[in-house]
Amino acid sequence: MLSQTNPKKIVVFTGAGISAESGLQTFRDSDGLWNNYQLEEVATPKAWAIHPEVVLAFYNERRKQAFEAQPNAAHKAVAKLEEQYEVIVITQNVDDLHERAGSTQVIHVHGELKYARSSKYDSPLFLYDKGKAIQFGDICDNGSQLRPHIVWFGEHIHHYELSKKHLETASKILVVGTSLLVYPAAHILEGASIDAEKIIVTQQLDKTPPGYELRKGNAAALVPNIVDGWLNNGKAAI
Ligand code: APR
Repeated sequence: MLSQTNPKKIVVFTGAGISAESGLQTFRDSDGLWNNYQLEEVATPKAWAIHPEVVLAFYNERRKQAFEAQPNAAHKAVAKLEEQYEVIVITQNVDDLHERAGSTQVIHVHGELKYARSSKYDSPLFLYDKGKAIQFGDICDNGSQLRPHIVWFGEHIHHYELSKKHLETASKILVVGTSLLVYPAAHILEGASIDAEKIIVTQQLDKTPPGYELRKGNAAALVPNIVDGWLNNGKAAI
């Protein structure tokens, strides 16, 4: 059954590119994380089993950088949309820049740097805010080593069905700063309604998803323009 789109509902789907102008590295750009690290060495359950300290050090560094970073104009513009719309941010990012910019409904499908959890069981989340490091030997009350609350390659992503559902009823979809190369996260966009307005903002993209208008450039410059258009007359500014 096709869901009815809500004219006042927007979904913003983001990737590392929206945080690039806050000084945080993306993954696949020339200076990206996966050009400096072997992802198999730091972002898989196997890496965790072999050398947890190496994995902890990788995420401790990223947690510290994320804590020191500030939201940029793109994050702030997305938050400003809430003045007139219900805005669901679905992000692949593990920083909390959307929340710090003021967005109130943020779904993290790849986890969050500011939390740790048990490496053994589904445990409560432990806040490791302010860039705090998780050390080898930090254990939780079930006696297991704490791990970053991050989805590693090969693990299930979080909130997949919920995210797809939100896409079905959004009348506007704004995709910002993602290469759309990682699944199943990129499949979330398949939930979009055919009659929703769809814009994708990125510096470069191998293939523009069907039905999307591509705006090439920097998120911090392009996103505020689009947001102002939607807030002033409902039409995205060119
Ligand atoms: N403004 C807009 N877009 C930008 C900017 C910018 N300032 N800087 C980079 N980009 C674009 C790049 O052109 C690219 O299309 O952002 C995208 C970043 O792509 P990736 O580095 O692949 O990051 P992302 O799509 O978020 O990766 C998805 O892969 O490794 C996993 O878990 C990791 O969540 C991550 C997932």
